[in-house]
Amino acid sequence: MRIRTHEAAHWVVALTCAAFPLVLPVSSGAQESTIRQWQYVAAPDEQGCRLAMVAVPKPEPGPGEIQVRIRATSLNGRDRYALMGRCGPAGPGGQVALSDGAGEVVAVGPGVSRFQLGDRVVGTYFAEAFLEGKRPEGAMEYLRGGPGPGMLSEIVVGNEHGFVRVPDYLSYEEAATLPIAAVTAYVSLFEYGRLQPGDYVLLEGTGGVSSFGLLFSVAGGARTIITSSSDEKLARARELGAVGTVNYRTNPDWQDEVLALTDGIGVQHIIDIGGEETRLKALEALGNGGHMALIGGLTGFGGAIPVSEIFNKDARISAFHVGSRADFERMNRFMSGHEIHPIIDRVFEFEEADEAFDFFENGDFMGKVVIRM
Ligand SMILES: NC(=O)c1ccc[n+]([C@@H]2O[C@H](COP(=O)([O-])OP(=O)(O)OC[C@H]3O[C@@H](n4cnc5c(N)ncnc54)[C@H](OP(=O)(O)O)[C@@H]3O)[C@@H](O)[C@H]2O)c1
Repeated sequence: MRIRTHEAAHWVVALTCAAFPLVLPVSSGAQESTIRQWQYVAAPDEQGCRLAMVAVPKPEPGPGEIQVRIRATSLNGRDRYALMGRCGPAGPGGQVALSDGAGEVVAVGPGVSRFQLGDRVVGTYFAEAFLEGKRPEGAMEYLRGGPGPGMLSEIVVGNEHGFVRVPDYLSYEEAATLPIAAVTAYVSLFEYGRLQPGDYVLLEGTGGVSSFGLLFSVAGGARTIITSSSDEKLARARELGAVGTVNYRTNPDWQDEVLALTDGIGVQHIIDIGGEETRLKALEALGNGGHMALIGGLTGFGGAIPVSEIFNKDARISAFHVGSRADFERMNRFMSGHEIHPIIDRVFEFEEADEAFDFFENGDFMGKVVIRM
């Protein structure tokens, strides 16, 4: 059970000790020496976490660090699980929410060389722990938004290597959608998938990863087929370049429709975000020699891996977490070359973070949900 109290927005935790945090009422805004951030705080009955706005001392950059005034953040599938997971007492060092965030460099620590004041930056998912190549051991401890520090904070301080420059043509809101969903779609299609123009691509649903999969595969000259529970979203996907659409709610055997759309050949690329309930069906729609990225578990992470079917199709199956900073920078060049603008369904204000989480959980959106600050 998850607990979130909007009333929490009217209070801050000014000081905290192990068992009894001291809470003080807040009027509005942050004082100069303090900043506001949304933290995952242990719920009173210990059955989950709640989101609470907390005031903490403004962090200052140390050697090699930049101080970023965050302008926008976005939600991802993993943020649903975060409210069910690890959380602790509110206060300095508490678990700040959200992995994605973009903002402006407002101070630099000694020795910083990649950025200067005024630069527009966006954080990488693994912060400074995964710069290129294969993910190093221990990098999972750095994940922004848990267990590493999150981005739903007026000011964030971090190692300069954990940020990339925002492409000039993108707004902060747009840039804040990129670190997880966009990098994952890009790595699936172009790095593991080696997508070629004319390839068929299958995407499941129209959430964050799949909406970037749609934009990227269309830009890459592929023939994109996408599923959704909503005919309205499918109509929008066709406007954005999808050549085939299937409503998975009204067509429980949607994989047959997908096969028919490829004249029975099957698709060359699948980004499977559904997991347990979609994986086997999606595999039926995979063509010989095709690539399937096992990315998500919106319907659960269990279920079988049908080895003989994978063999019979000479299929390639990948499973991975997002990507490196170098992947992010390659993707930014690709996006800039095609002037790709992320699909943003709705933008909430910083004070409305609770409503943003509720809206995201309800799932009635296409693309990304953003919180502006
Ligand atoms: N491995 C990685 O690196 C990685 C990276 C990013 C995300 N993920 C995981 O991938 C999953 C998706 O993440 P996300 O951020 O894209 O989520 P999201 O934005 O919340 O996507 C939600 C959308 O998924 C679609 N969906 C839900 N159930 C579905 C089903 N049974 N069949 C087809 N589509 C379904 C729905 O689309 P419609 O409304 O159109 O029906 C829904 O709106 C999550 O499990 C997330 O944790 C993994």
